[in-house]
Amino acid sequence: MSPFCHTPRNIRYCQGSVESNTAVAEKTFHIVLTVEEPLPVIRGGQFMMLRLPKRTDPLLGRPLAVYRSSEHRIEALYVTAGKMTHRLAEVKRGELLNLWTPLGNGFPNNDVCHTILVAGGIGQTPFLLFVQQFTRQYGVEQNKKRLTLLYGAKTQSRIAGMDDFRQLGIEPMIATEDGSLGYSGFVTDLIQRVYGSGETTQVFCCGPMPMLHAAFSVTKNLSLPCYVSLETPMSCGLGICFGCAVKYKTASDSDDWDYRRTCIDGPVFDAYRLVH
Ligand SMILES: Cc1cc2nc3c(=O)[nH]c(=O)nc-3n(C[C@H](O)[C@H](O)[C@H](O)COP(=O)(O)OP(=O)(O)OC[C@H]3O[C@@H](n4cnc5c(N)ncnc54)[C@H](O)[C@@H]3O)c2cc1C
Ligand code: FES
Repeated sequence: MSPFCHTPRNIRYCQGSVESNTAVAEKTFHIVLTVEEPLPVIRGGQFMMLRLPKRTDPLLGRPLAVYRSSEHRIEALYVTAGKMTHRLAEVKRGELLNLWTPLGNGFPNNDVCHTILVAGGIGQTPFLLFVQQFTRQYGVEQNKKRLTLLYGAKTQSRIAGMDDFRQLGIEPMIATEDGSLGYSGFVTDLIQRVYGSGETTQVFCCGPMPMLHAAFSVTKNLSLPCYVSLETPMSCGLGICFGCAVKYKTASDSDDWDYRRTCIDGPVFDAYRLVH
């Protein structure tokens, strides 16, 4: 197969009808879409491209993590950042949106005792599906596999979705920068506190770039595997436009690098191989 065309064949391009689109926290909305054609199984960490139809402004779709999905429903949690997400927040029940999914690789299924999820800002969104699939596979706290969710926000009013994790049996450890809830400070300060030396551990991170850098710095000092889910701006989501390229080392101990497309080679990357 051509290296320029290894897009998975199970991608659905379809219209989603808005079932609900509600504010759940400051500047944060939860959208539920129903689709007629059944969706394939979507892995935790995969995403969809969402586009407002019948208009050319904004022209391009935008990537959003798949928050939850079933055969005929797909959900996202989004924060209003710019043009598209502000318009999305005004969309009403019954309106149709274009979407294509599942996209990207999702989080790896590595055999380790402890997986630490580190989310910042709206970075909790790709983790819900991962936690759902993980707990289905391993149970909530089996002797050999455990999950910890660390979630950081600027302030309490920006926190969203934590009850969805609690419903899956995961009690998040929360950090706020202003100290309004939970630990006062950066979420990355919590990594070392929950790390139990002696058990194999990996760290998955999603959030703004400064947080990813800080999380990687901590995990590198602890010599832990670290995977980051990038929020690189995208145009097609399908590997066609090359607009989402990032520099990636050919091996973690190499200085040699080439480009990878975040939409099809990521969005989840080995942090040791990203060129910072
Ligand atoms: C795989 C993936 C999954 C994502 N999942 C989610 C999600 O679940 N929920 C969510 O709210 N967002 C998510 N994002 C980010 C989301 O795609 C952007 O917030 C969105 O594209 C902004 O579109 P807009 O038209 O509202 O803003 P624009 O008008 O495109 O931009 C507004 C401003 O924000 C800046 N900006 C836009 N996107 C980014 C970015 N990714 N990083 C830094 N600055 C940016 C622009 O430079 C500009 O200043 C995800 C991104 C990726 C790649
Ligand atoms: S967004 Fe087009 S190649 Fe990745």
